[in-house]
Amino acid sequence: MEKKRILMVCLGNICRSPLAEGVLKAKVNTNEVYVDSAGTSNYHINDLPDRRSIATARKHGLDITDQRGRQLTRQDLKDFDHIFVMDNSNYRDALALAESEAEKEKIKLILNEIFPGENVDVPDPYYGGDQGFENVYQMLDEATAKIVEKLKNGTY
Ligand code: 4NP
Repeated sequence: MEKKRILMVCLGNICRSPLAEGVLKAKVNTNEVYVDSAGTSNYHINDLPDRRSIATARKHGLDITDQRGRQLTRQDLKDFDHIFVMDNSNYRDALALAESEAEKEKIKLILNEIFPGENVDVPDPYYGGDQGFENVYQMLDEATAKIVEKLKNGTY
């Protein structure tokens, strides 16, 4: 079977989407599922994840220090099967890069995995404290568990 390709997207690609990438990678067989992340902005190209995301991941046994920031491209909308965005602003920015209905349909708000149709944002923790990062981790842990279920049962 073709390897599924999943992309996690936020604004900076240093706080939320690196955590989402790390959390999903830990739940799948990476020989069967390719997971990556990107930011809609160019603010943090080649940067390490935010030290608070690194610390939160580490607290849960995950090392995300191999990740570096990169910007979402039009090519990503062709290359990936599913593009999970963290908030409604990311959704609009990603949608603006889509060149077909098929590409648009790949883009999904990640919290719709646990709150279908509610279009809830993963709050941006960048300007907050450490608890914000732990909250983000918990939401992403739940949402990625649903993604794994769908990968396993063939929905994704
Ligand atoms: P992220 O958080 O989108 O979860 O990576 C942010 C990181 C940096 C900035 C904004 C959000 N920034 O404005 O630099």
